[in-house]
Amino acid sequence: MTKKILVTGGAGFLGSHLCERLLVEGNDVLCVDNFFTGSKDNIAHLIGNPYFELIRHDVTFPLFVEVDQIYNLACPASPVHYQFDPVQTTKTSVHGAINMLGLAKRVKAQIFQASTSEVYGDPEIHPQTEDYWGRVNPIGIRSCYDEGKRCAETLFFDYWRQHKVDIKVARIFNTYGPRMHPNDGRVVSNFIVQALKGEDITIYGSGQQTRSFCYVDDLIEVIVRFMNASKDFVGPVNIGNPGEFTMLELAERVIALSGSKSKLVFKPLPSDDPKQRQPDIGLAKQELDWEPKVSLDDGLRQTIKYFETKI
Ligand SMILES: NC(=O)c1ccc[n+]([C@@H]2O[C@H](COP(=O)([O-])OP(=O)(O)OC[C@H]3O[C@@H](n4cnc5c(N)ncnc54)[C@H](O)[C@@H]3O)[C@@H](O)[C@H]2O)c1
Repeated sequence: MTKKILVTGGAGFLGSHLCERLLVEGNDVLCVDNFFTGSKDNIAHLIGNPYFELIRHDVTFPLFVEVDQIYNLACPASPVHYQFDPVQTTKTSVHGAINMLGLAKRVKAQIFQASTSEVYGDPEIHPQTEDYWGRVNPIGIRSCYDEGKRCAETLFFDYWRQHKVDIKVARIFNTYGPRMHPNDGRVVSNFIVQALKGEDITIYGSGQQTRSFCYVDDLIEVIVRFMNASKDFVGPVNIGNPGEFTMLELAERVIALSGSKSKLVFKPLPSDDPKQRQPDIGLAKQELDWEPKVSLDDGLRQTIKYFETKI
């Protein structure tokens, strides 16, 4: 059955893949974006499809539309972008959540929140399970994002308890793939762009800090599965790829797969940078019968191919 679906942040990296997937499934998709980090290039191939509509709009302002489902993805996701205007970042998460939850309440739509592993901050337990409350600095340079997302989760659960809004909250761990912003400072795009340009690859700290990397197709699959799963399963649920790699390992794989001659250079670790981050995806496996399928090498190959066309 065709659903009317709103995707906020739909012109961004994840949002554009989500819009594409929802259209393939025969839905009517309304993409809302203020183009802060998103781009028309990401959705240019969708314009002209009669089931795709685009609205330039900032989610910190109310929006009145009739929809069945809302995927709330609007928010800059990389430190370089969310620290550019930290007050706007918090507003996007908090006012954006209030506006979208208000809309969901009015039109009785289901609503998905793109939360983040950053709600765990610099964790003391490893890997992180959903019942871990996190260790977050409330006044640091990452707080606009981390605390904004934490407050958005609070709002989602209060709208669920108080107003019976049908919510879904997922904590997304590092995801990569085609259409990542080339200059956003995220590690995968950084390394690939530096490798393709033959520039030095920057490693922060010793390079022993670890991250897990999920390929975008795997992530979109679980987001859609979660939205359409039982109403009783509201999350929060970790989604990501538990495979853990050090920054040094990642850099070496990018160099090998891109055939680059780049060298590694080491710089000081930025403030509040977590040392380790790995999802425990047991809950997603159990409730959504999902686990990532795309290997790091396959995902990196697709991403390198995309950046080759951009550089
Ligand atoms: N990619 C990841 O690894 C990752 C990890 C954790 C969480 N997330 C979350 O997923 C969502 C999408 O992330 P992404 O990687 O696609 O980032 P992105 O920056 O590519 O996409 C965010 C989109 O939101 C738009 N946007 C920002 N502020 C807005 C506002 N006030 N009003 C309307 N649109 C606005 C941007 O223009 C952009 O198109 C974000 O909420 C992010 O926090 C992503």
